[in-house]
Amino acid sequence: HREDRLTVGVVGTGYVGLTSAACLAHLGHRVTGVDIDADKVALLRRGEVPIAEPGLGELVNARLADGSLSFTTDLAGLATAEVVLLCVPTPVHSDGTTDLRAFDAAVETLSDVLDRDCVVVIKSTVPVGTTERTARALGRATVSNPEFLREGHAVHDFLNPDRIVIGATEATAADRVAALYEGVSAPVLRTEPASSELGKYASNAFLALKVSYVNVLTELSERLGAEVIDVAETMRLDPRIGTAFLSPGPGWGGSCLPKDTRALLHAAKQAGVDFAVLADAMAANRRQHERVVEKVREAVTGSPDGSLAGLRLGLLGLTFKAGTDDVRESPALAVAALLAEAGAVLTGYDPGVDRTADVRPVHVVDDPTLVAKDSAGLVLLTEWPQFRALDWAQLAELADRPTVVDARNLLEAEAVTRAGFAYHRLGR
Ligand code: UGA
Repeated sequence: HREDRLTVGVVGTGYVGLTSAACLAHLGHRVTGVDIDADKVALLRRGEVPIAEPGLGELVNARLADGSLSFTTDLAGLATAEVVLLCVPTPVHSDGTTDLRAFDAAVETLSDVLDRDCVVVIKSTVPVGTTERTARALGRATVSNPEFLREGHAVHDFLNPDRIVIGATEATAADRVAALYEGVSAPVLRTEPASSELGKYASNAFLALKVSYVNVLTELSERLGAEVIDVAETMRLDPRIGTAFLSPGPGWGGSCLPKDTRALLHAAKQAGVDFAVLADAMAANRRQHERVVEKVREAVTGSPDGSLAGLRLGLLGLTFKAGTDDVRESPALAVAALLAEAGAVLTGYDPGVDRTADVRPVHVVDDPTLVAKDSAGLVLLTEWPQFRALDWAQLAELADRPTVVDARNLLEAEAVTRAGFAYHRLGR
């Protein structure tokens, strides 16, 4: 065992908590994961991982086997912990206020259980000020240490982070949190809790801003006769702008960007700060959903005012991005809702979504040929690479009107056109 091995508790075994628990055990610490959901704990104890994260199942099973990782519903299991990570959900209401009920409930139960010297680490994304408030409530050192894990890459991102941010008021507590990550190579930024908390929101909101920026450029490119792919590439080649988050699409979504932008805008309003650029990015995101619908309307009916009522449309992709099974705040479903409102009848296929999943108003099928059959149009909404390799000639034969709107600019125009489809996409 490593000499600086820490006894760690992780409260909440969602994608952040479970990934953190497994990775910290992998780094050599002794980790107990706690969850109030007894069924989930039973599952995890058997080594069954309920979320689709590459490498996570293997890691959990290896660490269960060597005894460095365990799961329980009993908070008493945290009594000997030197560090406890709070990884409970902190959803955000539509007005931008954060629902801290699960978080506060966890804090309350912990106060009786934890050792005096235990350092509490807040991994959940929480409003600025929460870390200091929690420190007072618990009477224990409390540190902000936000996660920057992309869904679908969570294990990789935990073990190969771009940065480790530690927001603490006491150096000894910060040292103990830094010791958790001994062996991980990344810049460590030590700061005070408010900056750490705000930095998390600021990062996600900036990513959203970038995507909205390029999404607005799709409309502008269309109006001005430019090609958005080349416009974005021109930007990417400037290292000050960077290469990532400049791919146009139907809008940004998921369990993080939408909630964090709402929360940050709310925090700015509360603080009397005009964050119009962020509000605009959010409005542009809603507008992007409508733009996809306008594209579909025009492509399928041949007119900007054509009616979609009663038309069968097939959706390719339902998840908020490729490589996940997550449809939370998915732009694909936002577009679907607008199409359904316009009267379209929707069938959807997604490699990550099971036929039995409830994603109304979309009828989910488990075969892409079923979305094409008798369709008046196909709409590609998630950038699954396997969509490129579909048998487009076969889909064209099955379709009533072989038309595809590619809202991710994913397909090879030439190949799809050769297969018999009228091909439409964003930003050209
Ligand atoms: C995001 C951040 O990227 C992570 O750094 C962060 O840790 C995480 O939230 C979190 O707060 O936990 P994630 O929600 O997994 O990760 O999703 P992203 O990969 O950021 O994608 C967000 C959305 O933007 C998706 O809908 C995606 O399709 C869209 N997007 C992304 C684009 O439309 N274009 C792009 O160029 C990039």
